[in-house]
Amino acid sequence: MIKIMLIAGARPNFMKIAPIARSFNKTNEIEYKILHTGQHYDQNMSDIFFEELGIRNPDYHLGAGGGTHAQQTAKIMVQFESICENERPDLVVVVGDVNSTLACSIVAKKMHIKVAHVEAGLRSFDLTMPEEINRMVTDSISDLFFVTEEQGMVNLKKEGKPDSSIHFVGHVMIDNLYYQLAKLGKMPPETFKTTEYKQHHTRYGVVTLHRPSNVDDKNTLEVVIDSLSSISRTLPLIFPIHPRTRKNLETFGIKPAETITLTDPLSYMEFLNLWKDSVVALTDSGGLQEETTALGIPCLTLRENTERPITVTQGTNELVGTSKEKLMVNFEKIMAGNWKTGRKPDLWDGQAAERITDTILAS
Ligand code: UD1
Repeated sequence: MIKIMLIAGARPNFMKIAPIARSFNKTNEIEYKILHTGQHYDQNMSDIFFEELGIRNPDYHLGAGGGTHAQQTAKIMVQFESICENERPDLVVVVGDVNSTLACSIVAKKMHIKVAHVEAGLRSFDLTMPEEINRMVTDSISDLFFVTEEQGMVNLKKEGKPDSSIHFVGHVMIDNLYYQLAKLGKMPPETFKTTEYKQHHTRYGVVTLHRPSNVDDKNTLEVVIDSLSSISRTLPLIFPIHPRTRKNLETFGIKPAETITLTDPLSYMEFLNLWKDSVVALTDSGGLQEETTALGIPCLTLRENTERPITVTQGTNELVGTSKEKLMVNFEKIMAGNWKTGRKPDLWDGQAAERITDTILAS
């Protein structure tokens, strides 16, 4: 019997641990506990996902949200250390690149507990991004690397990781996308609040924006909102706002055009119900770049770089940064129906979590 702690803390983590938990449920050789660090804590950023994901509630909830990066990371580390003292897991599984990923991998490794990193090897090579630091530190001490795209393997090998520790398994986020898409297909459209928006707007785009580099600086946020407002006069946009972005729009007194519909953060299913039928996704999220590639929806990423290059080389994604000109040129191409169709990357087939479970059982 292998004893595992499965860690989640922020919104994109919940979708990534769900397929792993569902896969662990199918074997009696793994005993696992789910730990939620509480990095994200609003109902709409956290609890609602557990309700939809078909996994049990966390066994531990640390309530370590808010504060600066150091405060948040430290709060998680102190509490996680004492839980590991009691639980003594054989393996800690961390996903993604958030502060919770970093905090829990460091604690486990110092206690000589093996660490598996899911979504390992991704690099934006942009050290101004907190996530890049989290990725680099987590990968520098992990024992098992589960990789979503080929470039991840290249990066890890360059950093000297032994071949035997690197496993190209595909993407658990995409496993979850297919799982929830199938579920959604069986539910009447009226189940979702977002269906009302779709009834009023036959063609529309979706927006998500929360990166500090886009939303923490007044001038940058003004430029970005101005560009989105221009687009929305041609194609109506719906924008579920992250708490960080909402706070900054209010503080800076920036008002998006009325053709941009602002909503609170949405549950996974509510948001999927919207973006799966959208004309374009305008985003700075990591996950949405990949999910739009999986479903062939055009995506314009408001960043200068991406740690997920396969979404550009094989998928439907383009990087436009914060330049209005670049954004408009690419937007016009999409509106003209002149966009690349892309292909689904290798192993993005809904079976990544099964491969992870098999690898853990064999290692
Ligand atoms: C975090 C991740 C980011 C991920 C994003 C997804 C890090 C460094 N960043 O960014 O990689 O893409 O989650 O959303 O781990 N807040 C609330 N309620 C919440 C959550 C956040 O009000 O439930 C507000 C708080 O003011 C908080 C701020 O948002 O201080 C930022 O939250 P934080 O978890 O530090 O980072 P995110 O910007 O959410």
